[in-house]
Amino acid sequence: MATLIDGRQIASDIREEVKQAVLAHTSSGKRAPYLAVVLVGDDPASSSYVRGKAKASAEVGIESDTMTFPDTISEAELLEIVARLNDDDNVDGILVQLPLPAHIDDTRVINAISPDKDVDCFHPASVGRLSIGLDGFAPATPAGIVQLLERSDIETSGAHCVIIGRSNIVGKPLANLMLRKGIDATVTVCHSRTRDLAGIARQADILVAAIGRAHFVTAEMVKPGATVIDVGINRVDDSTRDRGYRLVGDVDFDAVEPIAGHITPVPGGVGPMTIAVLLQNTLKAATM
Ligand code: GUN
Repeated sequence: MATLIDGRQIASDIREEVKQAVLAHTSSGKRAPYLAVVLVGDDPASSSYVRGKAKASAEVGIESDTMTFPDTISEAELLEIVARLNDDDNVDGILVQLPLPAHIDDTRVINAISPDKDVDCFHPASVGRLSIGLDGFAPATPAGIVQLLERSDIETSGAHCVIIGRSNIVGKPLANLMLRKGIDATVTVCHSRTRDLAGIARQADILVAAIGRAHFVTAEMVKPGATVIDVGINRVDDSTRDRGYRLVGDVDFDAVEPIAGHITPVPGGVGPMTIAVLLQNTLKAATM
């Protein structure tokens, strides 16, 4: 029986810490941290994420404004909006919700955000700082995972961390974070072409599943006592639910939970941490 890593509780602890820090900041006479959120189009998932970010910001005393634009906006117009936010001294953090409509180049827009306001940590300068261990913003999901480990007293120094998935927003930045001095893990990154993925996964003291395939990690891939972190959020059909589906992770939880030492549930594991890190980053943007 594994110990559950309670992402909801840990994220709630972080939000409370940010709230206290924001209070200390404003008590000293400074204005509240300010996050500008840019949403293009009316994709329900993006709208829901953005609402969650605005609500969480308000709860900790961070001011935010969600600027919503129709999906007919041109790339040039969007770049102009980003430029204005860059120049606005009352804006600390800028977040452009992805994905953007097909006629807009995500990379061009991300690259236009001032690295000083890049609370998503998507700008190449932010990624570069992370990779050489300079101080800067933390990428939401990877930094959320590191804080889950730290706050659950899981030893990372010298531990073998196997990451399944090499995406730019999870696998690669997580590998960089886990390698950092002070965290000191030995890192292996696996992907769809990896040979004997199960054999490598079985060597992991910390196994991170971030591939976006429901129930990909099975019991045979987990060393007894390992810490298993599940980044996946996958829809599977479920006729017993009103909405016709349920959300499951990349880990076959029922099979792996009896073997693992610690495990994150889905939902309620990594997911809640991402907004908590965004709040930490926005506070950082306002105070650095
Ligand atoms: N779309 C899904 N997740 C994210 C995120 O963390 N940041 C941004 N900007 N867009 C997203």
